Amino acid sequence: MTEQSCRLCKGELREVLDLGRQPISNAFVRAEDAAKVPFFRLAIGLCNSCAMVQQLDEVPPNQMFHAEYPYRASGSALIRKHGADVAERIIQTCPRGHDRFVVEVGSNDGVMLKRLTDAGIRHLGVDPAAVAADVAQTSGVNVWKEFFNASTATRIRDEHGPAHLIYSANTISHISYLDSIFLGVDILLAPDGLFVFEDRYLGDIVNCVYFDQIYDEHIYLFSVRSVQAMAAQFGFELIDAEHLPLHGGSIRYTVARAGTSKPTAAVAEFLVRESAQGLAEEATFVEFSAAVDHIRTDLVSLLRDLRADGRRVVGYGATSRSATVMNYCGIGPELLPMVCDSTPEKQGCLTPGTKIPVCPPESFSNPYPDYALLFAWNHAEEIMAKERLFHESGGRWILYAPKVHLA
Ligand code: TYD
Ligand code: ZN
Repeated sequence: MTEQSCRLCKGELREVLDLGRQPISNAFVRAEDAAKVPFFRLAIGLCNSCAMVQQLDEVPPNQMFHAEYPYRASGSALIRKHGADVAERIIQTCPRGHDRFVVEVGSNDGVMLKRLTDAGIRHLGVDPAAVAADVAQTSGVNVWKEFFNASTATRIRDEHGPAHLIYSANTISHISYLDSIFLGVDILLAPDGLFVFEDRYLGDIVNCVYFDQIYDEHIYLFSVRSVQAMAAQFGFELIDAEHLPLHGGSIRYTVARAGTSKPTAAVAEFLVRESAQGLAEEATFVEFSAAVDHIRTDLVSLLRDLRADGRRVVGYGATSRSATVMNYCGIGPELLPMVCDSTPEKQGCLTPGTKIPVCPPESFSNPYPDYALLFAWNHAEEIMAKERLFHESGGRWILYAPKVHLA
């Protein structure tokens, strides 16, 4: 189904980028199932009314977020630290002796809630990724293995009472039916409660040509302007925006019931910067598209040249993002014979659409390749430190944003 109008405000959607036919980005499957991976059209539209950037087509949520959803938040030291920091902030701001109730939408393997469990804070995670939720439950975290929406919110409130904080990381932008999410927040949130969510930031995506941040799960690419409009539409107000370095640049949005808190200066400052950057203008995306096209040409010619020179190149990090890069550029096993990844659920499977075998990280050093295409660039520091010997023995990392370059 192709959207013609904005999912939020029903304004006109203009197509601004087409990344072609793409598979479900987290569909890592065994060879015998590779032909069954569903494809869809990955194209982006800009709402000329509320400025929300969103996908034109959408993959049904249960095809992406099912029991076996392979992503594990705890797989990265960076994300573990982030989860711990968020939990610490929540613990610090919970007045002692007050009974606080915290709900996390998209709690995955409990990387954040585990800390709240240990601190004795009443909490509930909501996540349909049942296998990840099992991991959380093993460490004592309370989880409902469901999608969050107005109906789940009603049941949570009936059972646990109102939430003082609803927190979510990298989940809200994955959900097309935001009307039901906000209705759920309205039902569940205490009158003075806060809805805090973090998502990748359109400003960084455009600035750094992170076109691989666009894949099935990222239905929306939020900006401060579009989130402000969205909150207002549902009777809420964006009262703070904080930039985070995570995932190549994210924003933590704090939303309250309209009129209950005064917005910080940061919100207005972001709006000024976004306007200067042209985040609501089609011309910005014409330029972005041209830069993406350039990356494809350069990356494919680099990989072909290296193959012609007899150099061995492998991929590092079978990220969801890598599906967009590989499928858009047409990079298959002939250019990249393997991708290594630390997620056990991905190992032994093929990359979606491009059918490149995913191997454990031990295969990387056995022997080292000449070049490694770093798909998990948001974990560059951690990975480069871990694979220091690769670089020291003459290996080079290939990066592709904002331009193809070696490190
Ligand atoms: P991530 O950036 O967390 O998410 P996404 O899939 O949403 O793009 O993915 C990081 C991937 O990289 C994940 O599959 C695990 C892998 N990885 C490694 O193989 N080694 C590492 O040291 C790290 C940090 C990640
Ligand atoms: Zn709109």
